[in-house]
Amino acid sequence: MEKYVILGGARLEGEVEISGAKNSAVALIVAALMVDGVCIIENVPLVSDTYVLVDIINQLGGRAEFVDKSVLKIDASCLECCEAPYEMVRKIRASSYLMGALLGRFQKAKVAMPGGCDFGVRPIDLHLKGFEALGADYSVEAGGIVDLRAEELCGASIYMDTVSVGATINIMFAAAMAKGQTIIENAAKEPHIVDVANFLNSMGANIKGAGTDVIKIKGVKSLHGGTYTVIPDQIEAGTFMIAAAATDGDVLIKNVIPKHLDSISAKLLEMGVVVEEFDDSIRVAGTGFLKKANVRTMPHPGFPTDLQPLILTLLTGAKGTSIVTENVWDNRFRYVEELRRMGANVSVDGRIAVIEGGGKLIGSPVSSTDLRAGAALVVAGLMADGVTEVFNIKYIDRGYEEFEKKLRGLGAQITRRVDGEKGKSATIA
Ligand code: UD1
Repeated sequence: MEKYVILGGARLEGEVEISGAKNSAVALIVAALMVDGVCIIENVPLVSDTYVLVDIINQLGGRAEFVDKSVLKIDASCLECCEAPYEMVRKIRASSYLMGALLGRFQKAKVAMPGGCDFGVRPIDLHLKGFEALGADYSVEAGGIVDLRAEELCGASIYMDTVSVGATINIMFAAAMAKGQTIIENAAKEPHIVDVANFLNSMGANIKGAGTDVIKIKGVKSLHGGTYTVIPDQIEAGTFMIAAAATDGDVLIKNVIPKHLDSISAKLLEMGVVVEEFDDSIRVAGTGFLKKANVRTMPHPGFPTDLQPLILTLLTGAKGTSIVTENVWDNRFRYVEELRRMGANVSVDGRIAVIEGGGKLIGSPVSSTDLRAGAALVVAGLMADGVTEVFNIKYIDRGYEEFEKKLRGLGAQITRRVDGEKGKSATIA
C-alpha cells in the first residue's frame, strides 16, 4: 500500500499544466463503444479510472490502446459482447455508462451495478426510468446485474426530477441512435455533458442544447469514427487553485477553461484571494489572510460537490465561522474525521458542516476516504505544521494525473512511499 508523506509549510509557486477532464474522458471512452469505426481521443488523463475502462473495452472484445501519451485509440467496430459482470465494473462508477452505450448500439446490455467512490446512496433509478421511456425493459438479477433489452428504442420526452450527470449522459447515449427525437428536461449542465454531446456530434450524432437544461437528441442510424480532444479538468484545476490559496502561494494554472471555474474563482475572491483570468490560464495568489465564507454545493454552474472537501479544508485556515452545505450527496463529510485528527475544528450535522477556522493544522497520519477527500487531505498536509502521512492514495490515483509530481514542481515537499519504507528524502522527516 502506498502513501504520501508531506512536510507542510511550503508556499506553492510557479506554473502547473492541467490534464484532460477525468469525468469527461470516462464518458467519452465508453461512448466510443457506440461507434462503428476508429475513435482517437486526445488529452486523456493518465489516471487509474481511464486505465480500468481501457481494460474493460478490451475484455468486451473491442480494441483500446494508448498510441501516444494521452492519445487513446479505440476500435469497437468488431464488438459483439454486451455483458459486463461485476468483477469487470466494480472499480469504477462510470461503468454505468456501459448500459446506455451498449443498449443504444445493440438494443441490449447486461451490466452489473457499478462501483466507485462511496459518499452515500448512489442510485441509478433515473438512468433506468430514462431507458424505459425510450422503450427498453429491464430486470435486476441476483448480484445486482441489470439486464436491459429493447425491440427498438424510440425517442421520448423525459423529465428528470433530480439533476443527474450520469443519467443525462446515459440517456444521451441510448437516445443517440434511437428512432425519432428525445427531449431531456432538467438535464445536468456540467462541462462534461457538453463535451460528451460535442464528441457524439463529431461522430455523426444530432444533439442540441447540451449545457442548458433542455437537451434535444434526434436519433441517427449509426456513428462514425473520428478524432476528439477532451476538455481540461475543471476539478483538477479547482484543486490546484485551492492548494495555491491554502499555502498563500502564487500559481499560474495553465490549460484551463476559466468559464468552467467561475464558481470557484468567485468563492476564492470572496475569501480575499487574488484570482486573475487569462484566455486559457488562471493565476491564484494568496494575500496572507483568508476570510471566512459560506459554501453551498449545487449542480453546475453552482459550486461543484467534488471540490467541497477541498474548500472546506481551505476554510479551516480562515479566521471565524464558515458553513459548508452539501446539497448533492447525502454522506460526503466522512473525511472530516481525518481533518479533526489534524486539529481542525469542524462539526457536522447531516449535510451541514460548521468550521471554526483560523487555528493551525498539525501534521498527522490520515487516510483518504474517497478520491476528492484524498486530495483535500494532501492540501491539509501542505497547510499543516510538520509531517502528514496520507494513506489509501489509490483513491487519489483514480482521478489525478501525476499529482505529487505536479505539486513538487510547485515547491511542495511531498513524496510517494510504500507504507513501511523508510524516508529517502532529507527534506522530509
Ligand atoms: C457525477 C460525477 C461525480 C460528481 C457528481 C455530481 C462522474 C463520473 N462523476 O457522478 O464526480 O460528484 O456527478 O456532480 O462524472 N441520483 C438519483 N438517481 C439516479 C442518479 C442520481 O437520485 O438515478 C442522485 C444522486 O444520489 C445524487 C444526485 O442525484 O444525490 C447527483 O448524482 P449524479 O449527478 O448522477 O452523480 P454521478 O453522475 O454519479
